[in-house]
Amino acid sequence: MEVDEAPLEKVTREARDHLPFVEKYRPDSLDDIISHTEIIDTVCKFVDERKLPHLLFHGPPGTGKTSCILAIAKKMYGKHYHNMILELNASDERGISVVRDKIKAFCSTQQIINKGLKLVILDECDAITSAAQFALRRVVEKFTKNTRFCFICNYVSKVIPALQSRCTRFRFSPLKNEHIVGKLDDITKAEKLKVTKGAKESIITLSEGDMRKVLNILESASLAHDKISEEDIYSCTGKPSPSDTEKIMESLLQDDFKEAFETFMTLKTAKSLTLEDLVRSLHKSVMSTDLNNKIKIFLVKRLANVEQRIAIGCNEKLQVSSIVGAFIEIRTLKK
Ligand SMILES: Nc1ncnc2c1ncn2[C@@H]1O[C@H](COP(=O)(O)OP(=O)(O)OP(=O)(O)O)[C@@H](O)[C@H]1O
Ligand SMILES: [Mg+2]
Repeated sequence: MEVDEAPLEKVTREARDHLPFVEKYRPDSLDDIISHTEIIDTVCKFVDERKLPHLLFHGPPGTGKTSCILAIAKKMYGKHYHNMILELNASDERGISVVRDKIKAFCSTQQIINKGLKLVILDECDAITSAAQFALRRVVEKFTKNTRFCFICNYVSKVIPALQSRCTRFRFSPLKNEHIVGKLDDITKAEKLKVTKGAKESIITLSEGDMRKVLNILESASLAHDKISEEDIYSCTGKPSPSDTEKIMESLLQDDFKEAFETFMTLKTAKSLTLEDLVRSLHKSVMSTDLNNKIKIFLVKRLANVEQRIAIGCNEKLQVSSIVGAFIEIRTLKK
């Protein structure tokens, strides 16, 4: 028996090694989830007191909504986990037929082995058609005796108010940097990666509280480089590094129109940067300079206009000229 089990164990561990970081490091239990302690404590209390309401988890991507409910379900059901939950996500059909057939069938079947509450997880429920959401109102009420629903979405405004009012809402906010640092350190150690302190900081800045982004950036950088530096992170993600932005900013503030335009375009092309990212990083730079408020307001307005025009697909060279023009104009404002 032991002889048989050993290779199986090895295969699963090997299979896990080949998974992308986001799945390899998906939290197995509630202890592995960073942040959100209040939400987890509250839901666990509901479970312990057998007073679990219907749940609505909402918040930006990569903050652990799906991981959290899966870990809670594992804690609730142990080895019966697979029999007791129905998980539907965006890859499944989201029309009214799913509500009628799959969900109703799951909720109305009697559990022989385990008599506890069943759990239906409707992930990415903001993509469910509104007809199906209306149909769900009745289903949620009808099966409250033996089933709890957990709705998960990014945009709570896309869930009809009638469904929202049937649930207890929890907002998953973007993860805090201090929480991400620890997890990032653990993963770099486990993967035996050489990552500089600057690189870790830039991963955290670029991820904006999204743990999935942290893992994806780290993975792509680790595939391309043996020792990961700050510059590697920016080149992997195609985002402008602080030194790129500084170079452009310096040129915009000092050089004449033609030179500043050329510096901007050369750097943009050489590093394959998008104008949208450059406008956003210029905005950050402008906000942190010691230019006076009148000038800052002028520049921010112009950058905002450019951002809007890029979004509707206007000519990029024209927009770069407009940015350069704005910086030349402030020289007259200064006087
Ligand atoms: N709070 C967290 N603690 C630990 N790991 C996390 C956390 N949040 C996200 N992760 C990591 O990010 C990956 C994605 O998380 P998850 O699928 O739970 O995000 P989500 O909030 O459901 O995002 P989406 O809204 O895009 O579906 C997980 O595999 C996990 O590795
Ligand atoms: Mg999810």
